[in-house]
Amino acid sequence: MRHLMSPMDFTVEELDRLLDLANDIEANPAKYAHACEGKKLATLFYEPSTRTRLSFEAAMLNLGGSVLGFSSADSSSAAKGESVADTIRVISGYADIAAMRHPKEGAPRVASLHSGIPVINAGDGGHQHPTQTLTDLLTIRSLKGRLGNITIGLCGDLKFGRTVHSLIGALIRYPNVKFVLISPEELRIPDYVRDDVLIKNHQEFKEVIRLEDALPELDVLYMTRVQRERFFNEEDYVRMKDFYILDVPKMELAPKDMIVLHPLPRVNEISVEVDNDPRAAYFKQAQYGVYVRMALILTLLEVKVC
Ligand code: CP
Repeated sequence: MRHLMSPMDFTVEELDRLLDLANDIEANPAKYAHACEGKKLATLFYEPSTRTRLSFEAAMLNLGGSVLGFSSADSSSAAKGESVADTIRVISGYADIAAMRHPKEGAPRVASLHSGIPVINAGDGGHQHPTQTLTDLLTIRSLKGRLGNITIGLCGDLKFGRTVHSLIGALIRYPNVKFVLISPEELRIPDYVRDDVLIKNHQEFKEVIRLEDALPELDVLYMTRVQRERFFNEEDYVRMKDFYILDVPKMELAPKDMIVLHPLPRVNEISVEVDNDPRAAYFKQAQYGVYVRMALILTLLEVKVC
């Protein structure tokens, strides 16, 4: 039995196969419509979510399976003090696979150690968000045609933004990927990513503060929201929240074939006028999330479709 805690749990070859499967699902949805008949997905969400939870549910329904779960800690027995370990032991008798989001780093891993079914990390605190990374990889590969030989700008809250930490870990395994880390001093990438992932792997990267300086050289711009829920005080959040706003004048500084991604939800960091720019790919990215989660469910449940 296999779980997914980090994108690094898959080899590059396995990732390529998963993305190929997602592309085939997008092209031939009817072929997969009954692949998971009789199977159940449990969505165990201790933190709010729109895209991750609903795209997981859509993915299982598209595969002919069923879904059950909860969407907040308050509506589960976590509110009465039940541990993640006990919860997953019980859910293992109700479902065939589980996706878990939790505010505590490592909670899905703890669950996986006590689980009788595959557990997918659907976001753990400020740590990792591997299925967002699979979505991002599928989007970049589908729209740019490659995952290597790119310059990617990661902009915003690089300290708490778990999607950025996961994406860097995945992209360093492709050749000639250059990272431009765009953040205010207070929201720089954590040391464990800079030192243990980028520097240790001799990865080319630079850190800049001004988005305008980075834009002309980018193939991909990955915007992120300032993660209000991870700040210790509201004052710091208010000071940081509008540090970056991607707007139409800034888009004029970017290459014509750059794509703009954002894991969403967006707050103010991308002006709504940018949505009309053909380079804005963040809503398409959210759609790719369904195909890649379908591919992930099939892979972890070892369901083959001929
Ligand atoms: N991208 C993402 O994780 O969105 P949700 O928080 O809505 O799931």
